[in-house]
Amino acid sequence: MGTILIIGAGGVSGVVVHKCAQHPEVFERIVLASRTLSKCDAIAAQLVTPIETAQVDADNVPTLVALIRRVQPALVLNVALPYQDLHIMDACLETGVPYLDTANYEPPDTAKFEYRWQWDYHERFREAGLMALLGSGFDPGVTSVFCTYIQKHYLDQIHTIDIIDCNAGDHGYPFATNFNPEINIREVTARGRYWEQGEWRETDPLSVARPFDVPEGIGSLNIYLMYHEELESLARHIPHLKRARFWMSFGESYLKHLEVLQNVGMTRIDAVEFNGQKIIPLQFLKALLPDPASLGPRTVGKTCIGCQISGLKDGAEKTVYIYNICDHQACYREVQSQAISYTTGVPAMIGAKLMMSGLWQGDGVFNVEQLDPDPFMAELNRCGLPWQVIEQAVVDLDS
Ligand SMILES: NC(=O)c1ccc[n+]([C@@H]2O[C@H](COP(=O)([O-])OP(=O)(O)OC[C@H]3O[C@@H](n4cnc5c(N)ncnc54)[C@H](OP(=O)(O)O)[C@@H]3O)[C@@H](O)[C@H]2O)c1
Repeated sequence: MGTILIIGAGGVSGVVVHKCAQHPEVFERIVLASRTLSKCDAIAAQLVTPIETAQVDADNVPTLVALIRRVQPALVLNVALPYQDLHIMDACLETGVPYLDTANYEPPDTAKFEYRWQWDYHERFREAGLMALLGSGFDPGVTSVFCTYIQKHYLDQIHTIDIIDCNAGDHGYPFATNFNPEINIREVTARGRYWEQGEWRETDPLSVARPFDVPEGIGSLNIYLMYHEELESLARHIPHLKRARFWMSFGESYLKHLEVLQNVGMTRIDAVEFNGQKIIPLQFLKALLPDPASLGPRTVGKTCIGCQISGLKDGAEKTVYIYNICDHQACYREVQSQAISYTTGVPAMIGAKLMMSGLWQGDGVFNVEQLDPDPFMAELNRCGLPWQVIEQAVVDLDS
């Protein structure tokens, strides 16, 4: 209960703010701060309930500390970019305030994400008696909670996890990304990686594909093996795990554009000289692409994100599939946003709600799968992301 300070005012933030405002019994006061004040004010203007806004550069720790001291929040919820994670965690430690985010730290000059940098904060948060919750979005976030829920209620041991992230939505543009273009393209163009028998195996980017019939008649999509950050934390936290993979659907048009952009060097993240100025091609591309926060009114169709999980139940092999389907237009009607931001923003609010109401507690740095899945799963059903379980395999990904 108390004040929440939300940092970042992009697509995901818009949803977090709307959803927090729907729970005034927990989020008694909402303060939204970001680099561009007008973006905070634009989100605030969408709400019936008044919220406070502020300008902050989250890469500047002293400024952030001053803001936190002024606002006195019960929690800082970070939905800026992964580059800010460590700075915001530093400011939380300095001011004694718990922390939550949805994406793990990446150094701006290397397309590499690892939990190591944030896990290294564990002792400092533990000694300060503070909780930092990492990756409370959908993937990472809900997908990891799906795994621990299945482990708790459907299987005695988990042996394999296949996370399958499908977006059958259409925004009508030949090429656009559904969340921050820079982060999205860095992730998608990275080498594929999955965890098997205690080690990481690599594949060329988007070189392994399978067809997937999305449940509830959503249609058949091609899904591609890629690396995703929750594989690292699940490999560490799920006992008996033998293999963990992540698959994401991409349409023909997205892949064709991405290939051309890569071939001409537009996805590079090193600085190049242009007219006497240094520019980073991927950041320039971001400036040309549609703002993900603007896709809401024009995106139709549904997302389906779930996990196919196999293991042992009462000594026999068993496979289950657990998933959520989310409708882009229904999200837009509720919070003026498309489903990608919605499926990230709702679990971020739920993580904050569980922390602020004391249901999820701990001293140190935690990933969501280290906590009891039941209250989170109940909140998903209540807060707009209902889930289903099918007690059999829905796809053969191995032939
Ligand atoms: N776990 C999941 O399922 C999942 C899914 C999608 C996204 N995400 C994560 O969610 C986060 C937000 O994504 P998004 O699509 O909402 O991105 P976005 O639309 O680009 O919004 C990012 C916001 O952060 C602000 N920001 C950037 N640098 C800042 C700084 N130094 N100080 C203060 N504010 C700063 C930006 O400000 P400006 O407007 O001034 O640039 C912008 O308002 C990202 O970390 C993304 O990786 C997680």
